[in-house]
Amino acid sequence: MEIKNQKSILAAAQIILKSNYTIALVGAGLSVGSGIPTFRGAGGLWTKLGEPSNNEYETFLKNPTAWWDQNLNSQIDPERTNFRNAIEKARPNSGHFALVELENIDVLKHQITQNIDNLHYVAGSSKVTEIHGNRTKLRCTTCELRWHREEFDEVSPFWQDILPPKCPTCSGIIKPDTVMFGEPIPISILNSCVNETNLADCILVIGTSATVFPAASFPQEVLSSGGNIIEINPEDTPISEFAATSVKGPTESSLPKLLQEIKRLIANDNI
Ligand code: APR
Repeated sequence: MEIKNQKSILAAAQIILKSNYTIALVGAGLSVGSGIPTFRGAGGLWTKLGEPSNNEYETFLKNPTAWWDQNLNSQIDPERTNFRNAIEKARPNSGHFALVELENIDVLKHQITQNIDNLHYVAGSSKVTEIHGNRTKLRCTTCELRWHREEFDEVSPFWQDILPPKCPTCSGIIKPDTVMFGEPIPISILNSCVNETNLADCILVIGTSATVFPAASFPQEVLSSGGNIIEINPEDTPISEFAATSVKGPTESSLPKLLQEIKRLIANDNI
């Protein structure tokens, strides 16, 4: 396996360096190295609890006061508590830092992440679109203004006493920034993803089961416009058969190896 993987890492590095605009689609697998479980597969949160129903957002809209009251005051499922605690104490891993360096050397132009754990930013990435939101933020459902939770506590100190929280700018109803099942992706976020995908001639599909849309459609978009898919995942996914090359193994080790190979090729100027 090791020699095969070294070949796929070299192939991936060569494709990336021959591309003009490489982006990444990132999933929960990147944060496994930070102690956060995935959603699907062995030990996944939905594997344990079942996939949430697609009416989570509809339920929120029907009675946001009740939703907020339950979210703030009632006990949640122990599995969700474990997941929440894992995210709270998580720190970026070597996979996140490899992506920061690929951004810094202008090889990686943008990351579309499905992860809500904020670890890309903590690691130092800046060119990121969080298609499923960010759990450390709140968002107005009308004007899409966002605040970090502690910022909002300053803006509206007693918001937890007057539910649902309202936007101080447009009086829209505020919800967690994390996109709920059944919730449309906020239009400004979707536009950013579409723009980046349209620019890309190479997409790294990193640590995602590639089963949740619209995120899972982006690799096919890049492929259909003549670009390359490079998959980085220990397992096969529905994307694997379309990938120019697949780098197997956990991203906490495979991404640093890919970064090292890219820097070696650049240093030897044999792109
Ligand atoms: N390194 C890289 N990838 C890994 C690792 C690892 N150490 N461990 C597991 N994986 C891979 C699995 O093989 C799988 O393909 O990570 C992927 C995790 O898949 P999911 O749990 O489905 O996570 P993701 O693809 O991000 O889910 C997409 O679904 O429920 C929604 O909003 C949620 O953003 C999430 C979306």
